Amino acid sequence: MCGIVGYVGSRDAASIILDGLQRLEYRGYDSAGIALLDQDQIQIRRDVGKLSNLRRCVEDRPVYGSMGIGHTRWATHGVPAEHNAHPHISMDGDYVVVHNGIVENYLELRDELSAEGIVFKSETDTEVIVHLIELYAQNGAAHNLTESTRKAALRLRGAHAIVVLSKRSPGKLVAVRIGNAGGVALGLGENENYIASDIPAILEHTRRLVFLENRHIATITATDYEIQTLDGDPVALEAHDIAWDPVSAVKGEHKHFMQKEIFDQARSVTDTIAGRLDFEHQRIQLPELNLSEEQARRLNRLVTVACGTSYYSGLVGKFYIEHMAKLHVEVDYGSEYRYRDPIIDSSSAVLAITQSGETVDTLAAMEEARDKEAVLWSIVNAVGSQAMRVADGYITMNAGPEIGVASTKAFTSSIVDQYLLALYLAQLRGTLPIETQQQYALDLAHLPDLVSRTLECDDMVAELTSELHQYRDFLFLGRGINYPIALEGALKLKEISYIHAEGYPAGEMKHGPIALIDENMPVLAIALKDDLYDKMISQIEQAKARGGIVIALATEGDRLIASKADHVLYVPETPPLLSPVVAVIPLQMLAYHIAVKRGADVDQPRNLAKSVTVE
Ligand code: AGP
Repeated sequence: MCGIVGYVGSRDAASIILDGLQRLEYRGYDSAGIALLDQDQIQIRRDVGKLSNLRRCVEDRPVYGSMGIGHTRWATHGVPAEHNAHPHISMDGDYVVVHNGIVENYLELRDELSAEGIVFKSETDTEVIVHLIELYAQNGAAHNLTESTRKAALRLRGAHAIVVLSKRSPGKLVAVRIGNAGGVALGLGENENYIASDIPAILEHTRRLVFLENRHIATITATDYEIQTLDGDPVALEAHDIAWDPVSAVKGEHKHFMQKEIFDQARSVTDTIAGRLDFEHQRIQLPELNLSEEQARRLNRLVTVACGTSYYSGLVGKFYIEHMAKLHVEVDYGSEYRYRDPIIDSSSAVLAITQSGETVDTLAAMEEARDKEAVLWSIVNAVGSQAMRVADGYITMNAGPEIGVASTKAFTSSIVDQYLLALYLAQLRGTLPIETQQQYALDLAHLPDLVSRTLECDDMVAELTSELHQYRDFLFLGRGINYPIALEGALKLKEISYIHAEGYPAGEMKHGPIALIDENMPVLAIALKDDLYDKMISQIEQAKARGGIVIALATEGDRLIASKADHVLYVPETPPLLSPVVAVIPLQMLAYHIAVKRGADVDQPRNLAKSVTVE
């Protein structure tokens, strides 16, 4: 969704902001703009479509200055058009604003401002903010940008991230965070400071970041920053040093971020395990979870809340936690959870899984859990994100920045995190024999090698897709712990290749979807050598009998399957509980290669955003 970058220092702000926005392209957007303060003039450039259009516009009509703000817009109110793109400017031309979120009461505010004689130039909700700031500035005794912004912010309903620049306050930017419309991070440099909605935007300049919380307003200059609550109370926030290195936020030798991130997985899974598994004693350490043995034993259930790919990861985790920790697990969509009356209390734990840590529906589910006094945990990739900060305890994925809109490495890392969590809970609750715990820990230690071997199947998958990319519908089947992998395989294909695909538990095929199967319907069946192998073989036979084209995902060395399926993709033999981590990789590759063959925009698929910060 929308992205924000702000800079104040002594260097050329335009290139810093444009490069920062480029790094936020993955979030999805339909127009972009920048505003710079050049001496006492605000200069704005905006354009629809890709950032390259805005860059061209800046080349044709350069902007100068060492402070400015920029924005990539994902349209909510008003079509993608130059006049709706941010920054928006006040009537007197003194103030410019960029904004993420939705002003829920914008119609009411628009009427009020129109009555004051304000003429609106866009159809956006955002424009009310800049006019409110101008109005409060005009009515204020002395000019104070922070104060006028604060007053304007207090009038807004909904969740917001806002950055304001004014020619009446040179050298100063003001940022506001209200609720969960994405993050607002202040990046601290040497005689220069930054503001960004997402860390990768400014990672090449600084790794020292301060994250604004709900109802915080920050004033930054090149050498200083000051934070208050919207009620005017001063706030001291700790600065975090982010370990992500800027190199992991570039494509390197890969054609797309998604491809790079698929191949990152041997390393990212290693990083997820590192420091958590005590190899000598085969025990798990998760200090950030803040969980005592007594608390762990008192829990009587766990509810996982998440959206999209993270939700499917939660479905895999349910197997781990129920099996190892003997704790009942429910998995719920973040977007649905708060719209019923969930039964949870202080003996329940609620686990939010979110790569971005900013998904508004998942954060709302966390709030519901907080209100009901459940123990609140999160699994997050974005360090310092809201989901990490509001939880009682957290586990980071340590997957490094994930830029491709289609989630890949965060999926496998979040599965590994849940495996660690389940083993840790089992340790504390005493629910698994010690030898079994040790065996599971040992299995985990071998996982990076299995992932690395699985990545070798890329050429095989690419070859297969030369035939498969023409089909319009796909069915993905899996059973048991690999049923969520069928769901994830179908989601990946849908997201980036725009082919209709459905994931199904294989046993349900005969209860409906079998009616769809014919020679135009490829069926991908996950049939690894586990307890459900024979059942999967019989589903494959049923699909073949209806003329379906069957692609089997099988365990290396399985000869039988080659005689049953039309095509076979092999993965190394993996302990069944960890098999989802390897099984998903060929499916990620399949979606990737099909999308490339179809000429789709792999990293920024249409209509999708990396972090979904509106409801
Ligand atoms: C994954 O490929 C998707 N783009 C999407 O489903 C994503 O997983 C979902 O929006 C949740 O995001 P989060 O993990 O950042 O909360």
